[in-house]
Amino acid sequence: CGIVGYTGTRPARDILIEGLRRLEYRGYDSAGIAVEQDGRLAVVHRKGKVSGLAETVGSLGLAGTCGIGHTRWATHGRPSERNAHPHTSCGGHIAVVHNGIIENFAELRDELAARGHELTSETDTEVVAHLVEEAYAGDLLQAVREAASRLIGAYALAVACDAEPGTIVAMRKDSPLVVGQGADGAYVASDMIALIDATRDVVVLGDGEAAKLTPAGIRYFGASGEEVYDPKVTHVDWDVDVAEKGGYPDFMMKEIHEQPRVIRDTLAGRLVDGHLAIDELDLSAEELNLIDRVYVIACGTSYHAGLIAKNLVEGWARIPCEVEVASEFRYRNPIITPSTLVVAVSQSGETADTLAAIRDARVKGAKVFGITNVVGSPVARESDGVIYTKANKEIAVASTKSFLGQVVSLTLLALLLAQSNSKLTTNQVRLLFGELADTAEQVEDILSDTAAIDEAALACKDAASALFIGRGMGAAVSREGALKLKEISYLHAEAYPAGEMKHGPIALLDEGFPVIAIATQSPVYDKLVSNLQESKARGAMVVAVATEGDEDIRQHADHVIYIPKVRDALSAITASVPLQLFARAIAVARGCDVDQPRNLAKSVTVE
Ligand code: G6P
Repeated sequence: CGIVGYTGTRPARDILIEGLRRLEYRGYDSAGIAVEQDGRLAVVHRKGKVSGLAETVGSLGLAGTCGIGHTRWATHGRPSERNAHPHTSCGGHIAVVHNGIIENFAELRDELAARGHELTSETDTEVVAHLVEEAYAGDLLQAVREAASRLIGAYALAVACDAEPGTIVAMRKDSPLVVGQGADGAYVASDMIALIDATRDVVVLGDGEAAKLTPAGIRYFGASGEEVYDPKVTHVDWDVDVAEKGGYPDFMMKEIHEQPRVIRDTLAGRLVDGHLAIDELDLSAEELNLIDRVYVIACGTSYHAGLIAKNLVEGWARIPCEVEVASEFRYRNPIITPSTLVVAVSQSGETADTLAAIRDARVKGAKVFGITNVVGSPVARESDGVIYTKANKEIAVASTKSFLGQVVSLTLLALLLAQSNSKLTTNQVRLLFGELADTAEQVEDILSDTAAIDEAALACKDAASALFIGRGMGAAVSREGALKLKEISYLHAEAYPAGEMKHGPIALLDEGFPVIAIATQSPVYDKLVSNLQESKARGAMVVAVATEGDEDIRQHADHVIYIPKVRDALSAITASVPLQLFARAIAVARGCDVDQPRNLAKSVTVE
């Protein structure tokens, strides 16, 4: 979900709509704004995207200069106008937008109902508006504080009140909120991207902290209510370009094309005099040498980056490495000792399950490294060390450039572990690092000619289902390929290690069934080719991602997508790119919204 608020000298309406457009990638099933108008809070909701809300708002002639807005990804209550934020109290005197989840909302709702409040939505947020209204005695900040003290769960709140024109109170716990002063007024948002047109200097509120925004400026308050006069200011150095498509048809395409740059930036300065320099992990070579077990924990695409890393950590550093989705890890009792390293991978740095898993692992005594794309994010703050993927803001919901940044960062980490425990020599590390750096150019090559990918996509676009197969690195890559396809094209896809095909999925195959195979040069290439033969014998339509120069593969595949030759250990980087383009091309051909697929959200900050 996304929150935006503004108070100042300009009409709030346009600023809120523009902010919501920027935030829309975080949720887009309904949207709404509340603007102060003639001493009242005028609230407008729409189911669906921000463009729909903008149309409605455009016809209303709202001129107020203070307001709050929200774009929603439904958790409690289905997407509908009634469940859209802002939510208001009985008399409409208080309006609230909220991200996060109020765990005790059912109890609070019953309590409020017993006291005569009429709650009209199915959301957890509405209770906040009523609690603030009850607590209000002439001081909005105080009332929000009191209401917040009743809440269990995670929240980022922006609250407006008709009795205090021009005032917005912002407060948070476990859900991000940033505040910034622009030339024409004060802004609050759940994500810096909604603020970058107004200011590059923002204050990231900490847990329990609050801010009071008025046209005269912003006042900050600490967790115990004391005024803070010198809040820590974070400077955002992104280009405004991150929020624009830059000539590409969609953000996903733009972000896929940024990948060579991401590889270069993630590696820049990492090899110094033949040695890997990842100083921010803050662990000496001796300490690294003691690590005898690695867990990679993550969700979604980030989990797939972990599956790739397992091959590298075990192959190069010879350390047992398990990869687990965070929502499972946190509720198990994994074997953790002080020599266990937990690597938490999260693009957003705010995924609820991943954060919970980090906290749990640390309590149990593990060292935790975070790999994230967002500087200062909860994953970065709560880990012992962090490697930043240099992907820059990713807007498309389906992750592409962040994934590649994660794979490259995890590759660096595997090299570091192998260098520290001497399983690789300095020369080997230097050689592998050089080849890793070369993948930037190889990805450029892939991006420069996508005809074969587009052709294969066209052939598969009307399928009802698809199977992705691979072995070794290819097995991990195929998992991500299948996820990308189902996320954005709604075509059912699943991935199997090719050797498992005969144990079930082969039953699916019949005339024209798409089998997408990662058939790059590797020690298991011949085995994979046998699987292709089995597929062809059942009439499947085989699409093979293969190594340039491999002419034989043509006998076993209907469509061949060639990629440059790289060593097997680095093949996930190059082989993933055509699968991203393949998924996108199918989604476009099926008329899907590539950047904002249905039901999904960019970051899942609730469990
Ligand atoms: C959501 C996104 C995915 C992402 C996953 C994990 O499901 O739609 O693209 O891979 O969350 O997010 P994280 O920010 O922790 O990498």
